[in-house]
Amino acid sequence: MILPALTDLDGVEDARVLTRLDLNVPVANGEVLDDTRIVAALPTLRWLGERASVIAACSHLGKAKGTPDPAYTLAPVAPVLADALGRPVRFVQDCLDPTIAAAEPGTLLLLENLRFHPGEKANDIDFAAKLTAPFTHFVNDAFGTAHRAHASVSASPRLYTSGKKAAGFLMEREVSALSRVVTDPEQPFVAVVGGAKISTKTAPLEALLDRVQTLLIGGGMANTFLKAQGREIGRSLVEDEMLSRARAVMEKAADRSIELLIPTDVVVADGLDNPSRVEIVPSELVPSDLMVVDLGPESRQRYTTALAGARTVFWNGPMGVFEIDAFAEGTLAIATAMAESSGFTVVGGGESVMAIRRAGVVDRIDHVSTGGGASLSFLTGDVLPALAALEE
Ligand code: 3PG
Ligand code: MG
Repeated sequence: MILPALTDLDGVEDARVLTRLDLNVPVANGEVLDDTRIVAALPTLRWLGERASVIAACSHLGKAKGTPDPAYTLAPVAPVLADALGRPVRFVQDCLDPTIAAAEPGTLLLLENLRFHPGEKANDIDFAAKLTAPFTHFVNDAFGTAHRAHASVSASPRLYTSGKKAAGFLMEREVSALSRVVTDPEQPFVAVVGGAKISTKTAPLEALLDRVQTLLIGGGMANTFLKAQGREIGRSLVEDEMLSRARAVMEKAADRSIELLIPTDVVVADGLDNPSRVEIVPSELVPSDLMVVDLGPESRQRYTTALAGARTVFWNGPMGVFEIDAFAEGTLAIATAMAESSGFTVVGGGESVMAIRRAGVVDRIDHVSTGGGASLSFLTGDVLPALAALEE
């Protein structure tokens, strides 16, 4: 996939550039809790900062419902961005504010949450026209939002001709790393998929079966596989309506001689907060009053052994309730095994990235994606709306 490059923009010297970033960062009490996505946007902002006349950054944050909501303001991002860049950032309280068009050369603006307008999620062309009107150029660096057909990433770039729009450096880096996993990955390719639910991941799972040699399943979704194999899983999280999909995945894997690993032993507990019982049991012997919370030691060993020989690894989703230290071993074992792998390693998804951080191995992973849903969608082979709109 060849996206229009930032460095190929025409007439960038006098440009007034709208950059779409994914600054959807966790915020609590007005403080940014994790600046990963802000830091990831800096190379593009710096490059433009040395060249363009006016730069505006826009983004969504959280699940705002088409109307201003102080719970989802982007205001706390402005000082973090200003500190990181070492230049002033002017926060604009409405992304369609009429004063935006009058910004002086040398100004960097951060526009308020796009989702405060219903037109953003509706991919409304009038909203896109108003948003982009003050700007001569458009740059999309919001990989984390590339799977959404929303106005700022889909309708907006269509309003610019080629030479006036580009992918930012982060977008380019994400697409090139993920392409290496999708197109002709070096074998053995081992994928690790976890997280609570299989229902949100059936399409990626099925697509991965076209590419991997080994698929490792963990987290809550593994319970659905265990139950689909006829095992009792006690009080564990399970999606009964997904049992036949889980069976279909297992059948497809068997048809193609793909090794599909599900836990052979598990950690079980009677609750998450202050459990009084925590045990390791074979996965066919989960007591009816307990729930699965992590991989057991034998499963950890099998999974890390499978990863040791891999030439390509993709990981999305935790192996257990890793927010709780006592149930984090399976997830941290995957993080460590990936760090030790000599293959090409890619991690996507907020929780897996958090685990990589907690294990202290971020620098030893080849590509840590800023997009969870977006990276899964890319891996599935979907046409990402944001990329399609840049290429047109
Ligand atoms: C994300 O964090 O998943 C992206 O920013 C997209 O946000 P959304 O899931 O609310 O569309
Ligand atoms: Mg999401």
